[in-house]
Amino acid sequence: MTEARERALQRLDAYWARGRAFLGTRYAIMGGAMSWVSERNLVAAISNAGGFGVVACGSLAPDQLAAEIDGVYERCDKPFGVNIIVIHPELDALVATCVERRVGHVVLAGGLPPKRTIETLKQAGTRVVAFAPTLPLARRLAKQGIDALIIEGMEAGGHIGPVSTNVLAQEVLPHFDEVPVFVGGGIGRGDAVALYLAMGAAGCQLGTRFVCATESIAHPRFKQAMIRANARDARLSVQVDPDFPVIPVRAVANKATERFEAFQRETIARYRQGEMELGEARLAIEHFWAGALRRAAIEGDVEDGSLMAGQSVGMVTSEQSTSEIVAELLDQAVNALALSAERGAAGLADGNRPAHRPLPASA
Ligand SMILES: Cc1cc2nc3c(=O)[nH]c(=O)nc-3n(C[C@H](O)[C@H](O)[C@H](O)COP(=O)(O)O)c2cc1C
Repeated sequence: MTEARERALQRLDAYWARGRAFLGTRYAIMGGAMSWVSERNLVAAISNAGGFGVVACGSLAPDQLAAEIDGVYERCDKPFGVNIIVIHPELDALVATCVERRVGHVVLAGGLPPKRTIETLKQAGTRVVAFAPTLPLARRLAKQGIDALIIEGMEAGGHIGPVSTNVLAQEVLPHFDEVPVFVGGGIGRGDAVALYLAMGAAGCQLGTRFVCATESIAHPRFKQAMIRANARDARLSVQVDPDFPVIPVRAVANKATERFEAFQRETIARYRQGEMELGEARLAIEHFWAGALRRAAIEGDVEDGSLMAGQSVGMVTSEQSTSEIVAELLDQAVNALALSAERGAAGLADGNRPAHRPLPASA
């Protein structure tokens, strides 16, 4: 390793020291929980590779979650977490399952976490992570005892907020130091990890980048659809009428995306013609995507299911092992930091700027 890369690695270690200490991992890279995909195999693979795997339990009952947690313990002895959607009808039972099984970290997603949930987890010694959509809410969550935050921009896959990762990072990172902050949404390369760390992030969360990992149980057709897709294919769900709400979800466009718009129009027309009640029409639209992620990700129906993915899908170009993905992210982060130091040393005069080129990994 060259001296430049050695120094860059030291800088990277210093940048994410807080995140690593919080997660208890070698790298402060969280594998964002993905319903159906982030089960025992992928979670264990991410944690074994030095990152932090997170079990998705959006669709699991408490006994299924217990089995999944046990499955991770059987496959790895490294730290990992569980993601719980706070509107889950069995929230308390899921939390109790995590406590009983001594899960170290619980990520509370899908809304602001109830006070009682935070308290139960903290009393059990579990580290609690939540999503902060704005700076004031980040402050409020830190006051309520949340141990770390994730800020996630609208480039991300799945259910998203309205603000980009870039803007959220600028709004939160320079002004907030109370607890470690992890940045997610649209991150496909280590260069971006290095960038957010340099801005003050404790680490990053990536989802889409891990979907096509060899260890991911996603259906081969789902993986192929991801490998084929470009950033611009990962589109936001379209709401055709302000009176008929549609939850914003980012997914690779397919036949179901087209049908969804037509379905909304037909349903709204039926309501206007008096064939349906307002509530019934709204519910029909809400239910259109029920079970759709499972249909695509597990059953392989990539035309009628939901191909949830972030814009970083354009950077998913092949099936790779999880350890390869993590090693690649690390290499890119070190490279980016070495290059920026090299640029700094060369001075900012245009004539002195080194051309943008990757340093050879063996250098
Ligand atoms: C297929 C898929 C399913 C997801 N399911 C969940 C989920 O159940 N809970 C959650 O908090 N986030 C979920 N997410 C978001 C991820 O945890 C992660 O934050 C996001 O993918 C990061 O953005 P990126 O995809 O651009 O890396 C999902 C994302 C994808 C792509």
